[in-house]
Amino acid sequence: MRYETVALDDEKSALVILDQTKLPNEVEVLSLTGRQEIWQAIYLLKVRGAPAIGVAAAIALYLAAKGIDTDAFESFYRQLREAKDYYASARPTAVNLFWALDRMERVALAHREEPVAAIKEHLRREAVRVKEEDIEVCRAIGEHGLRLIKDGDGILTHCNAGQLATARYGTALAPIHLGRERGYHFKVFTDETRPLLQGARLSAFELAADGVDTTLICDNMASQVMKNGWVQAVFVGCDRLAANGDACNKIGTSGVAILAKYYDIPFYVCAPTSTIDLHTARGEDIPIEERPAHEVTEMWYQKRMAPEGVNVYNPAFDFADHELITGIVTEFGVVYPPYDQSLRAIFAKKAGKTADVAKA
Ligand code: MRU
Repeated sequence: MRYETVALDDEKSALVILDQTKLPNEVEVLSLTGRQEIWQAIYLLKVRGAPAIGVAAAIALYLAAKGIDTDAFESFYRQLREAKDYYASARPTAVNLFWALDRMERVALAHREEPVAAIKEHLRREAVRVKEEDIEVCRAIGEHGLRLIKDGDGILTHCNAGQLATARYGTALAPIHLGRERGYHFKVFTDETRPLLQGARLSAFELAADGVDTTLICDNMASQVMKNGWVQAVFVGCDRLAANGDACNKIGTSGVAILAKYYDIPFYVCAPTSTIDLHTARGEDIPIEERPAHEVTEMWYQKRMAPEGVNVYNPAFDFADHELITGIVTEFGVVYPPYDQSLRAIFAKKAGKTADVAKA
């Protein structure tokens, strides 16, 4: 896909995003400068997907810092914190939002003895690094994931954990995009993903743009395609992975995991370490976003499809229990149960690599 999901336009002091609410019918690039419009863009899923939200938040906080008019660190930091708290309130589940904002705040604090202008430059570099790292991380996830499947396999995915959800490649769709580059022919089944249709509007769009054999199914058809023997592996993304391996992702993921277990199909969660939250012990501890009723009763329909006044429950996420997950694909390799041990080992590996980079 030739469009960038999320970018910094420093000259215009803007966060540039591809408006995902308009896809696939319109390709519209937005250049956002106001804090409120950036917040709205995250809340309304104009930019969405855990890693892309993280990159957008890092850029947004840099832009907020750039606009702060003071030379005194204390005042600068207070205003930066205000902007950080504001952006952190846009969505509660994807941990990448908080991960990116915390990372930016740490940079500001680490350089507190320097002039404010220099701190702003450090923040700009960090925001750019968050994006560049995401591209590298997703590519690595793609390489590790590709080793788990073979040419001709049928793969089922849920929601959109592709390029549109990251800076490039995606997480769950990265093995498919990389495989396509290398001449593999996968048959991908994408759940439409009610109620916001990320599978129908976004995964189908990006996979088709990449020339991947893609079949769209309604969410309630996953069991049928699995029963038909058409699915050799399930790949999904993740919004927050708890320390015990419970994987919170788009609503419906838990059901897909249960089906995969029943049909004995490997179920893989693709999660960069920025999505792994060792401070959250288990899936039950992850805050689940609830969204407005009209997404279920009216959105996408020509006219309302439910009686006025009906009660609606609209959780945006659920979690696949760690016992249902065959493996978790990170940028440092695939980890297997017991996850409470293997996830900690991945962070030890990450710390080693970071130390190597620092030494070099
Ligand atoms: O509500 P969304 O569209 O932001 O939800 C996105 C997902 O659930 C993705 O699967 C997840 O963020 C992983 S993206 C690589």
